[in-house]
Amino acid sequence: MENNTPDINTDVSGESQVCRIFPEKINIDPFIMVIFGGSGDLSRRKLLPTLFHLCHDQNLPDDFAIIGFASSARSDAEYRALVKKALEEFSADPVQSECWERFSRKLFYVSGGFEDDSSYRRLSARLQELAGKPPKQVIYYMAVPPHFLPSIMERLRYCDFCRTAADKRLVIEKPFGRDRASAAELNRLISHAFEEDQIYRIDHYLGKETVQNILFFRFANSIFEPLWNRRYIDHVQITVAETLGIENRGRFYEEAGVVRDIVQNHMMQLLALVAMEPPTGFESDYIRDEKVKVYRTIRSMDEEYIRKFTVAGQYGAGRINGHAVPAYREEKDTSPQSTTPTFFAGKFYIDNWRWAGIPFYLRTGKRLKKRITEISIHFRQPPLRLFGTTCELRDRNILVLGVQPAEEITLHIGVKHPGVGNQLFPVDMVFNYERDIHDHVHFPLAYERLLLDCMKGDHTLFARQDGIEAMWSVVDPVIEQWENTPVEDFPNYSAGTWGPAAADDLMHNEGRRWRTW
Ligand code: BG6
Repeated sequence: MENNTPDINTDVSGESQVCRIFPEKINIDPFIMVIFGGSGDLSRRKLLPTLFHLCHDQNLPDDFAIIGFASSARSDAEYRALVKKALEEFSADPVQSECWERFSRKLFYVSGGFEDDSSYRRLSARLQELAGKPPKQVIYYMAVPPHFLPSIMERLRYCDFCRTAADKRLVIEKPFGRDRASAAELNRLISHAFEEDQIYRIDHYLGKETVQNILFFRFANSIFEPLWNRRYIDHVQITVAETLGIENRGRFYEEAGVVRDIVQNHMMQLLALVAMEPPTGFESDYIRDEKVKVYRTIRSMDEEYIRKFTVAGQYGAGRINGHAVPAYREEKDTSPQSTTPTFFAGKFYIDNWRWAGIPFYLRTGKRLKKRITEISIHFRQPPLRLFGTTCELRDRNILVLGVQPAEEITLHIGVKHPGVGNQLFPVDMVFNYERDIHDHVHFPLAYERLLLDCMKGDHTLFARQDGIEAMWSVVDPVIEQWENTPVEDFPNYSAGTWGPAAADDLMHNEGRRWRTW
């Protein structure tokens, strides 16, 4: 990460310490962003509202342009109308404003197939027109299904403007391949047109404020780091629970399944942030080096291990927040006999000095009871039970890093319950972002932070190719075994529950239990 820590003015006067954070000054060079799939779902829901928001907050330079590139025939004016409609639906900022006038003048459209050379000639001409002097940097944003990437990379490689642009960058959305081999092949194609330092692989979890805070919390506070190891920690749980189903993404999800969709990327990133060693510095490669070391030390899983210590699930019909929802197999574009998993639970070991023998339990699923993403660090019991077994803390000391929806850090401790008896009583020490940071702090959306970082050239919150491949190496054996083993009991959990019973058994068999809410 470049040194973009905000200035902190600390004045220690008497007993209270005044700490003011000055807003960071953001300098972004003039740019043209070409959005491949500029009228698709991701563009309408996330990218265009985020760009509009950045413009609204005056975080973009005066000189920028956005080119939507997609197959439907449209004029610039029609594209502007489409974007306006998308903003009205998905943007938190008011669209009827002077800002919309300013933003809409920056929107352009090129129509054409991604596999058609003439489209690229039109795109090239548009880029030359808008380039200016000196030429702006060009950001190619891939908001397209992965099967288009090989043809796009091939053509970008030959596109004149690619070679002559002052600076060009590529932003690419997950999934990065379907397994390690295809991720390596995809990278080979990309690397014909772009160098590694021009590539920004987005995992939107890294843009979440609470996820970024994991490193700050671990390495800015001296009291936790000495405890952050096998001597004091019993186990770690990471949960990414969703109430959402697969929305309208049946076709994608049937191909992907839960491990490719969430475990290989978002969960591996969370695991690495909790488990990694302190980086030598806060520069992007130091941080990414440490993450890769974690993936490489995750114990590889053989057939028997996968059978014993991973659990697959698929949801049946049920109720979420009082509403009936259909089974996965009844969703649009899924097969009535589908064996695609929508739930994963599993135990991982990180075979290094810090974590040897400490289990990391990961659990994620669609249509679970609540939407919760959190990491909980479960500390060991004290060495002696001084207060007898009757008043032992049921939930020992747990440090909970809440990612969403509660953006907070909680430490569960035990205190003496007031009274004549010797009763332990569980209480929580809680830091909550919204409640405890009073400066009306702005919580940037994940995409806001990531787009700005890409424009600034900061790679810290983006995945690196060796990391991607190492993450695939962790999950490939699970995917392969699950795909090759006939599934007999799907659906094995009802929507609106915490997943299959086997996931609870996984913990009970080891004398532990999942956190519940
Ligand atoms: C995406 C997955 O990467 O992350 C989706 O493709 C999932 O299936 C989403 O719903 C979850 O993101 P968030 O930010 O809502 O936790």
